[in-house]
Amino acid sequence: MITVKDIQKDPKISSLINAANKMLEAVGYTEHGPRHVGFVSATAEQILRQLGFPERECELAAIAGWVHDVGNAVNRVNHGLTGGTLLFPLLLEAGLELSEVTTIVGAVGNHEEQNGKVVSAVSAALVIADKSDAHRTRVRRTPYNPDDIHDRVNYAISANAVEVDAQQRTIRFSIEMDDTSSVMDFMAIYLTRMQMCEEAAHFLGCRFELVVNGVHINRQGAPR
Ligand SMILES: [Fe+2]
Ligand SMILES: [Fe+2]
Repeated sequence: MITVKDIQKDPKISSLINAANKMLEAVGYTEHGPRHVGFVSATAEQILRQLGFPERECELAAIAGWVHDVGNAVNRVNHGLTGGTLLFPLLLEAGLELSEVTTIVGAVGNHEEQNGKVVSAVSAALVIADKSDAHRTRVRRTPYNPDDIHDRVNYAISANAVEVDAQQRTIRFSIEMDDTSSVMDFMAIYLTRMQMCEEAAHFLGCRFELVVNGVHINRQGAPR
C-alpha cells in the first residue's frame, strides 16, 4: 500500500510543491511550501483518526494534505481544479488504487472556498486542516508588511490548534492573536473559509467551533 511517506519521496510531486511555493512567493502570498503542506497532511490525518475513520482513509487524508496545493505551480486562480487534474496521472503512476486517486483528486479539486464543496470525509478533513494553518511563521517578509492584511493577520497569530472531541462531536479551531491585527481583520479574510470549515465539520457529523483568544466566535447548535 502506498503511504504518504512514499508520496513525499516522489520527485515529480516534490518539484510541483516547490514550484508552487516559489510562484506564490513571486506574487506575494504567504508560505505554501513543505511546512504548509506538511502541517495540512498531519492535521487532516489526525482529524479522521480521532473521529475513528478506517486507517486507509486517514492515510488518504494525509496524502491529500501533502499534494493539495500543487495546482499553484500553474496559477493561483482555480489551483484546486488544476491540482486535481495534474495529480490524476501522477498518483496512478505512484501506485495508488484508482478509487483512492479519485477520492484524492475530488478532495483537492474542492478545497478552495471560491469553487469547492465538501464531497467526502477526506475532503472535509482537508478543508479544516488547510484553513486552520494561520500562523506568524507563514509570513515571508521580515519585518511583516502592516499594509498587507494577510501578513498582518498571520503575524498576529502566535498559536493555533485544531482539537477534535469525538465524544462531544466538536472540532474546535482556536487561535491566539495579539494586537498586531484584530478579530475584524481575521474575519475579513477568513469568514468564507470558516464557513467552509463549518460545512466540513457538519459533513463529519460534528460542530465547528472557532475560538479566538478564548472567546467563541461562532458557537453553533447540534450538528446538522
Ligand atoms: Fe490551496
Ligand atoms: Fe493550502
